[in-house]
Amino acid sequence: MRVYASAPGKVTLFGEHAVVYGQPAIVASIDKRIHVYAEFRSDRVITIEARDLRIPGVIVTYRENEVTVETEYGLILPAISYLNKAIEIASKYLDSKHGVKLVVRSEMPVGAGLGTSAAVAVAAIAAYAYSGGYELSKDEIARLGWEVEKAVQGIASPMDTSITTYGGFMKIRYSGSNIEKESLAIDRDLPIIIAYVEREFKTRDMVQMVRERVSQYPQLYGRVVELIGEVVKIAEEALVKYELEKLGLMMNLNHGLLDSLGVSTRKLNEVVYAARSSGALGAKLTGAGGGGCAIALCRPEKIETVESIMRFLSEFTMRTSLGKEGVRVRVEKSI
Ligand code: PMV
Repeated sequence: MRVYASAPGKVTLFGEHAVVYGQPAIVASIDKRIHVYAEFRSDRVITIEARDLRIPGVIVTYRENEVTVETEYGLILPAISYLNKAIEIASKYLDSKHGVKLVVRSEMPVGAGLGTSAAVAVAAIAAYAYSGGYELSKDEIARLGWEVEKAVQGIASPMDTSITTYGGFMKIRYSGSNIEKESLAIDRDLPIIIAYVEREFKTRDMVQMVRERVSQYPQLYGRVVELIGEVVKIAEEALVKYELEKLGLMMNLNHGLLDSLGVSTRKLNEVVYAARSSGALGAKLTGAGGGGCAIALCRPEKIETVESIMRFLSEFTMRTSLGKEGVRVRVEKSI
């Protein structure tokens, strides 16, 4: 069986960090995707070829416990580990050990906070299952994808794997293993510019730092977290009613609160403030912070100006529209 599966990246529009404390967050899929092509192999051998991941191409072959990596770069292994784990977990769940040739391509850089690891995991699970003639529901794919993220990262929220599976706009709230997800019906385009600045800290460090502050000064940082939850409520209304001015205002407020938690950086602030002063309706960091991505909401007539200023202050920018389809699987004749 030859299969093509793809899954989108994501941005967190509102509520990152506060979501760790039971507040809701709003996430949206973007129009950049991870593509996985899979071809059934009868010999139980799994080969993985990853391209365009902003790392050199690589071919990994593993049989039983033996792994061969045809590249000089040890750097590649973390990216491959999501694929590896996705196949391991899907294979166990399906109780099938069929071999597969996987080819992975990315339309976006990996490791920039755009949810690529979740998209890789989800698309690989779907591609592997269908290549063996199995079918999985979206709920199953999302759950297995989350298991992959937890297994590779040690700790992971279900936000990224949910949004890359279901796509669109989602409000998510979770505590422990209990996840509440709600799809938000937004049928109009929301033009966004994403800018990436160098990552200074890992997600894990940022989450840990906020946790320490919240437990040390709950009357201050705990209240900031609650305020972010209030922002999410108003932002949801604005989003559903497509009130862009209000949405921009809430992005700015959310960014200020994230900054007060200590997760913004000088570079992120520079990009955010420059975007606003060049005409964006609102701008904020997105994801864990400590570097990484910032997003700006723009009316179409301002996009050029805002993007060029953001590009000047960052490593790269991308334009995207939000709310794109989640995981997609097609059984194909040729790979
Ligand atoms: O940087 P990202 O896209 O992985 O986002 C992390 C989001 C946090 O809310 C900071 C952490 C979490 O687990 O939800």
